[in-house]
Amino acid sequence: MAVDVLLGLQWGDEGKGKIVDVLSPKYDLIARFQGGPNAGHTLEFDNQKYVLNTIPSGIFNDKTMNLIGNGVVIDPIILKRELDNLKKSGFDPVADGKLVIGRKAHLILPTHQLLDAASESKMGEGKIGSTLKGIGPTYMDKTGRNGLRVGDTLLVDFKEKYDRLVNKHKSILSHYGEIPDFSEKEQAFFEAIEYLKSIPQVDSEHFVNQYLREGKSVLAEGAQGAMLDVDFGSYPFVTSSNTTAAGACTGLGVAPNKIGAVIGIFKAYCTRVGGGPFPTELFDETGEELRKIGHEFGATTGRARRTGWIDLPALKYAIMLNGVTELVMTKADVLSGFEKIYACTHYQYNGEKIDYMPYDICSVEAKPVYEEIAGWNEDLTGIKTIGEIPEKLNAYVKYLEEQVGVPVRYLSVGPDRVQTLTL
Ligand code: GDP
Ligand code: IMO
Ligand code: MG
Repeated sequence: MAVDVLLGLQWGDEGKGKIVDVLSPKYDLIARFQGGPNAGHTLEFDNQKYVLNTIPSGIFNDKTMNLIGNGVVIDPIILKRELDNLKKSGFDPVADGKLVIGRKAHLILPTHQLLDAASESKMGEGKIGSTLKGIGPTYMDKTGRNGLRVGDTLLVDFKEKYDRLVNKHKSILSHYGEIPDFSEKEQAFFEAIEYLKSIPQVDSEHFVNQYLREGKSVLAEGAQGAMLDVDFGSYPFVTSSNTTAAGACTGLGVAPNKIGAVIGIFKAYCTRVGGGPFPTELFDETGEELRKIGHEFGATTGRARRTGWIDLPALKYAIMLNGVTELVMTKADVLSGFEKIYACTHYQYNGEKIDYMPYDICSVEAKPVYEEIAGWNEDLTGIKTIGEIPEKLNAYVKYLEEQVGVPVRYLSVGPDRVQTLTL
């Protein structure tokens, strides 16, 4: 058996949560492999909407086990809140034995969030637009070999380790100015740590490989998107982890030759939250319409998402980086009613026409060159069979498949789990 990987191909919010939920009945284990509560994965069924930040999107399926992998960074306060909210809705994955956590996953401390905020506040125009969840500083402590891990919470010297790290943070914070009072947050942190201890801890590398040895199926769930990858995204306007397929290997402990299908998700158009280059961004009424019809407001921070047409050079790049074997196109319904839609095939850059993301995209404009495509008018949200797909939408899908060379296997036509077609 192999680990299939599902990940976003744009700048996040492609609909990963919804599609993982849809696919989860096919899998014995869903494993989150990177990112933290900067993620907001939304899924809907039975007229209920759920937003998950840390917990894998397989928890609503009765038979699926869920793992928070070693590559994830965990804010115990947010994790506890997520689980409390789920309990209120009648779901208790801990009591049901459906959630385990990698003991090598790193912990986000209240002071990591202060560092995130302090760093952003000093950046002015150039700020990244971080979700302020402490993601960057936590990964910095991980690679700087100072971090605290989930397994440390069970060690006798946890508090000492915590104090040592917080003292280091305080000395950094003092360079930014007065250190805000975080005593309440700290108290909530330690309460949440006690709660965290009730979740079974595993070594994700052994846990996942045991599943494979037993012939069980595993789906690795990505967060963010390929264009936010710390190595290959629009650096420095990226997140602090490898969001691409290789991140599933390090974030779970799976060898590259154990990776199976790579399922890449993209929206029928494009969005981005936070700062950084976005060549196809629309600043006009069309952009506003996409935001309104697509409800493009962040699931984690509520910020308005920037909107634009699909960017094929970026999409092809993401497909190459991830070795995508099949595609999922979401939010096709949002484009209904646009007379013309546009696909960016190239950029005009330094007086040249190019079809790749240039290195200096953060400082030199890459102006999109578009192909015009006929839109469709039909409401898609009620369609149940592929025979009902409007001809012009079929043509758009076919056009994209030809451009990127990978088949679209699933088409999403609304936020609900049932609004998904297999092509
Ligand atoms: P994720 O971070 O990739 O899981 O995506 P988000 O949950 O942040 O953002 C996707 C948003 O689009 C959520 O509000 C989903 O409920 C919604 N959504 C997902 N697929 C579709 C779709 O096909 N059509 C529409 N209209 N909304 C969708
Ligand atoms: P999901 O999993 C969209 C963006 C932030 C910011 C940059 C860095 O829901 O797709 P960070 O808090 O990671 O330091 O922020 O990355 N960002 C996301 N944008 N969806 C996400 O996650 C994101 N996670 C981070 O807006 O620009
Ligand atoms: Mg999201």
